[in-house]
Formats: sequence, structure tokens, C-alpha cells
Amino acid sequence: MHLITKVSTVATLFAASAAFAAVGSQGNIENGKNIYMNGKGDVPACNSCHGQDAMGDDALGTPRLAGQGYVFLVKQLEDYATDKRMDTTMYIMNTNAKGLSAQDRVDVSAYAASLSKELVSSDMAQVKELGNPVGVRHLGKGIVMYGAVSRGIPSCYSCHGFNGRGAAPIYPMIGGQKYVYLVSQMKKWRDGSRANDAMGQMQAVAKNLTDEDIYNVATYLTSAPRTTMGNSRVPGDYPDH
Ligand code: HEC
Ligand code: HEC
Repeated sequence: MHLITKVSTVATLFAASAAFAAVGSQGNIENGKNIYMNGKGDVPACNSCHGQDAMGDDALGTPRLAGQGYVFLVKQLEDYATDKRMDTTMYIMNTNAKGLSAQDRVDVSAYAASLSKELVSSDMAQVKELGNPVGVRHLGKGIVMYGAVSRGIPSCYSCHGFNGRGAAPIYPMIGGQKYVYLVSQMKKWRDGSRANDAMGQMQAVAKNLTDEDIYNVATYLTSAPRTTMGNSRVPGDYPDH
């Protein structure tokens, strides 16, 4: 019974993403790059907020897009365009996504996904200067690797892969993501202001996280390498990236 539930869960998630994968296989990286660098119509250039190299910016609270899962990026832009995901800070991303065609959203996702997956951690001195509380790295590592079972928190590893390096097509890369963005999103999952996760998976995880947990986990994740020490191979690296 348990097994059947699990199998159908995976099947449902996969069916949802297969629709995007079908559109996504047409991604035009050149057009995507042009939009990223120059904007299109009323939509401003993405690099003005997400950075020239798409590594994100802690001062602006923007996420890294470089090397993020392609299907995941398409889904986020669709979710913004349909107000399934609300950018509660400024509604900026909802407006941006609506200003692009479905094909443009696919193309710009293909471009961002094609960029470097190399680890670029947040500068924690800058993060502190900006007035953000920061956590304790090894405490965050414990939750990322093993969760906190007695408090109902699963390991992040179990869905997002080793050190949060991502498990396409559903689970985004959260290792090497910007600190300020990681913190803001975990708080939004927890208070329900971000609710575009299939079957409420992230909301269920986040509801048991304390503020301290969130700072600790984000401190670890922003500097978490994709590979294990001494082994440069990434086991099970995603075929669709
Ligand atoms: C004015 C600043 C600004 C501009 C310009 C901008 N973004 Fe964003 N973007 C943000 C912010 C802030 C967030 C985080 C919002 C939130 O909390 O939902 C974000 C989030 C995103 C996300 C979600 C990523 C994730 O990991 O979930 C994607 C995808 C994205 N932007 C793509 C783009 C693209 C493509 C463009 C250009 C067409 C663009 N952005 C232009 C500020 C900007
Ligand atoms: C049961 C599976 C599951 C577990 C366990 C899980 N997540 Fe997630 N997480 C998801 C899914 C699914 C999404 C993508 C939702 C969407 O489509 O927007 C996500 C998205 C996220 C995002 C947003 C990323 C972005 O770029 O916008 C963050 C941050 C995040 N998870 C952090 C964590 C942390 C930290 C843990 C461990 C404490 C964790 N997750 C454990 C399923 C999970």
C-alpha cells in the first residue's frame, strides 16, 4: 500500500513536469541570451538584477539562475505568469514573466540552465553588513544531510540531492544558492506566501523549521559543494541539463 502511494506520487509529479519538458525541448539559447542581456519590450534585462553571470545578488535578494534545472526554471516563470507563485516583494517577477511569451520563457530558461554550475558562495561578510542574521554552518549541515527526525524535519538531501545540488526535473539546486534568497524562500514556504510546490511538499518541510534552523541551513547550503571531497564526478548528474 505504502509502495503504491509512493509510486503514484512520483508518477503524478513526473506527468506535471513532462508537459514542460515537451515545450522545453524547443529552447533557443541564443534568443534566451538576448533577453537575459537586453530585455525585451517592457521587460528589463535580467542581468540588471540577477547579475551579468546569473549568480544572483544578496543586496537585491535575487536568486542565482546559472546552472539551475531547466524544467524547474520554466515552471517558475509559468507560475509567475499565472500568479501561482507570487513575488511578494514587488510583484516584479510576475510582471516580467507576463511580459514574455511562453516561448521566450522557455528560451531564457534554456540559457540560464546552460550557464556554469560551479560553486559560488554568498560573501557572508557582505551578508552580515547588509544586516542579515547568519547561522552556524555545521548545524545547518546536519539538517541538510540527516534532517531533524524528532522535530519532523526530513533531510534536504532526500529530495534535493547531495548537498542540495538538485534532482531534475522536480527538485531545484539549492546548494550554492544565494543566502538572502534561501532565507526568504524558506520563510515564505513556512508562512504559505509561496505555495507553488507540487502537493505542498516544501510547505510541509518548512512548517517545522525555526528561524535558527533557516539561518543555519542557508549558511551551509550557500557554500555546499556539489561533489564529495576528492571526487569531481557528480553521481547521477541530470540528463536534461
Ligand atoms: C528588478 C529586478 C529583477 C529583474 C529585472 C528580473 N528579476 Fe527575476 N527575480 C527577482 C527577484 C527579487 C526574485 C525573487 C522573487 C521572489 O521572492 O519570488 C526573482 C526570481 C526569479 C526566478 C525564480 C528562480 C528560482 O530559483 O525560483 C526566476 C526564474 C527569474 N527571477 C527569472 C528572471 C528572468 C528570466 C528575468 C529577465 C526576463 C528576470 N528574472 C528579471 C528580481 C528580478
Ligand atoms: C519532500 C521533498 C522535499 C524535501 C525533503 C525538501 N524539499 Fe525543498 N523543494 C521541494 C520542491 C518540490 C521544490 C520546488 C517547488 C516548486 O516547484 O517551486 C522545493 C524548493 C525549495 C526551495 C526554493 C528554491 C528556489 O530556487 O526557488 C528551497 C529554498 C528549498 N526547497 C529548501 C529546502 C530545504 C532547506 C530543505 C531541507 C530542510 C528542503 N528544501 C527539503 C521539495 C522538497
